[in-house]
Amino acid sequence: MSKLLIEGGHPLCGVLKIQGAKNSILPIMAATLVAQGECVIENCPDISDTHTALEILKTLGAQVKMFGDKVWVDCTNVIDYEIPDALMRKMRSSIIFLGAVLTRRKKALLSFPGGCELGPRPIDLHLAALEKLGVHISEEHGYLRCEAARLKGAEIHLSFPSVGATENIMLASVQAEGRTVIENAAREPEIEDLQNFLNAMGADIRGAGSSTIVIRGVESLHSVQHRVIPDRIVTATYICAVAATRGNALLKNVEPKHLSSVLSVLREAGCEIQEFDDMISVACDRLQAVRLVRTMPYPGFPTDAQAPFMSLMCVASGSTVFVETMFENRFKHIAELQRMGAKITTEGRVAVVEGVRRLSGASVDATDLRGGGALLIAALAAEGETQIGRIEHIDRGYAAPEQVLGELGAKIVRIE
Ligand code: EPZ
Repeated sequence: MSKLLIEGGHPLCGVLKIQGAKNSILPIMAATLVAQGECVIENCPDISDTHTALEILKTLGAQVKMFGDKVWVDCTNVIDYEIPDALMRKMRSSIIFLGAVLTRRKKALLSFPGGCELGPRPIDLHLAALEKLGVHISEEHGYLRCEAARLKGAEIHLSFPSVGATENIMLASVQAEGRTVIENAAREPEIEDLQNFLNAMGADIRGAGSSTIVIRGVESLHSVQHRVIPDRIVTATYICAVAATRGNALLKNVEPKHLSSVLSVLREAGCEIQEFDDMISVACDRLQAVRLVRTMPYPGFPTDAQAPFMSLMCVASGSTVFVETMFENRFKHIAELQRMGAKITTEGRVAVVEGVRRLSGASVDATDLRGGGALLIAALAAEGETQIGRIEHIDRGYAAPEQVLGELGAKIVRIE
């Protein structure tokens, strides 16, 4: 099992280019299933989730190729409609393929996506919405068998602005008969990216980015070329890394408006942040704790940035209260941070961080994707050497972190 070895205490300085958004590329790869013809997707991150999504498309019968940050997909010969259990388990967000497979084949067979390291990942909102669109769903032996004689538009009110459910409804109604309205839709930028991808194919979707999305079914969808938006969570992670090491850097290929809630708490913490068109500069020489951080649906503070920002607050002066409202088990990185000398107490979904002068290097394990990002930040700021195990979690969403951070002066190597 490979590990990352990091010698902390080196300020990160220089220029880094941010990868494309993992949480955009996954629904967009699913959306290629509804196109008649080839799709070319640019700014695609070279991360393991991308390769898992490509594997799912290949299993369904698509032809796929990835060269550099470009992905080429041709779903002309797709006839299968079953997503194998192994792939569903490998990436919980594979559920996002359900809506697109239904549009393509009017039937789907997939295993219940397992829970994940963040706690149970229910899909009740997805299934209730699909049933409203005319899908008949039976659950047997851990499998979901879905069939729809026809997909018919419907009015759907989500009790929670679920990102995945919003995307699945868009993908299942894009060629349904009539109009579908999603009320209380998720507003994440990745939803807007999916709308733009589908509309470029000839779909008729309006309102992504707001709480109400209207989809009018169309007859057919053609091939498309699309550039994926930058990854706002990777951006947030690396800004925290620069700040935690008291460095200064210029991040390129970013979309500042996608992370305004993160930038405002970073400024509150004492970071000097400048925003340009597609760049953000960050410099930091002292860190003040931010009193309260509560994770919320977009445009609130993103749950995915909670762990990375917590690492930063571990070395700020003062105390920070974190309230994790989105997932019930998203504090698993805390035990690993405590091994590095972090002072954190938790009670349910609340964690109180008391900043310390320095963390100390230790041997730790990544517990999940963003928890792994948090350990990267803590290790870069710590005194001495840290060894991070279970880095397959980090590789799911961060492309070649040792290369990206090494170019900023970090002493970091991957050992097999
Ligand atoms: C997406 O997950 C992201 N993943 C997550 O990023 C992100 O943390 C999450 O949205 C919230 O922003 C992708 O886009 C691939 P949700 P998703 O449905 O769609 C509950 C990362 O690190 N819920 O908005 O699964 C659910 O349990 C990942 O990049 C139901 O109760 O998130 C959770 O508590 C981690 N029933 C809350 O809603 C449902 O049917 C938010 O879930 C669906 C969700």
